Amino acid sequence: MLVIAVFNAARFIEEKVEELKGQIRDKAIIGVSGGVDSTTVAILANRAIGGDLRCVLVDTGYMRKNEIENNQAMLKRLGLSVLVVDAKERFYQKLKGVVDPEEKRKIIGELFIRVFEEVARKENAKFFVQGTIAPDWIESGGGLRDRIKSHHNVGGLPEKIEFEIVEPLRDLYKDEVRVVGEKLGLPKELYGRQPFPGPGLAVRIIGEATPDNARIVREACAIVEEEIEKAAASNQMSRPWQYFAVLLPCKAVGVHGDVRAYGRIIVVRAVESLDGMSASYSKIPHTVLERISVRITNTLKDDVSRVVFDVTNKPPGTIEYE
Ligand code: XMP
Repeated sequence: MLVIAVFNAARFIEEKVEELKGQIRDKAIIGVSGGVDSTTVAILANRAIGGDLRCVLVDTGYMRKNEIENNQAMLKRLGLSVLVVDAKERFYQKLKGVVDPEEKRKIIGELFIRVFEEVARKENAKFFVQGTIAPDWIESGGGLRDRIKSHHNVGGLPEKIEFEIVEPLRDLYKDEVRVVGEKLGLPKELYGRQPFPGPGLAVRIIGEATPDNARIVREACAIVEEEIEKAAASNQMSRPWQYFAVLLPCKAVGVHGDVRAYGRIIVVRAVESLDGMSASYSKIPHTVLERISVRITNTLKDDVSRVVFDVTNKPPGTIEYE
């Protein structure tokens, strides 16, 4: 007889909160990004240990437009205690000259932990909670699995860490996390929010993740998000599972009026998926793609001369570029 186990979010919440009460025996900090995984974990941990929990939002310099301010306000509205750490310069310095994707991920993962350790020392916290989900450790490899990419919160972890790590969502996939988030009463715009990788825009800049490259891809990402969300709100298309911009390290020739231009190339990437493990590229209407292209090349006139659309599924591509 075939038995299909249906995920029971209410039971998961009840059991996890009890488990966390026993597991976190002291003050704890939690790394939050404002995404569905870390916010869901923050609410669970807050239910378990309340005032002993401090949320830490790290500004890496690779966050999206207005993201730190918006996320800080949203986490406060949810009743969480939030500390924002400005680590932009530290991330920029560490990533200077680094172009290899795995090296980038390792550096980012390690620096995240160092920042969290410093906060934990100040806050006298012995536990560190994070929103790792199943694809993070599956894709990071180990054992019999190949390493697809080191997710910042798994493969990027240094060997020596000063605190105990707690990962309540480790066995869940994204669609299950969303159900838990909804059950916990998170607003729809949060539990339905598109995924954003921990290393942030740094893995959407192919090549060196300089502050200037971050500025370009941040603006392009904001335009892709705005135009797609506008089109979805007016029923021109359905909102893809994930949609963003990527900056390539090479240049292409263009023309402004009758003047030659030589600028960077932006890739528009949008995919449909259930859990991020496989994906197909979104069939976005050409009118929407054209609006995105025109807006990016107008807004980033001095930087970008060309916009292309990625038609690769996963596999063989991955969703992010690094
Ligand atoms: P890929 O690029 O491997 O991505 O097809 C699958 C999903 O995971 C997200 N992603 C990450 N999420 N830390 C995260 O929290 C990471 O290091 C990371 N890398 C990729 C990606 O955005 C997609 O949704």
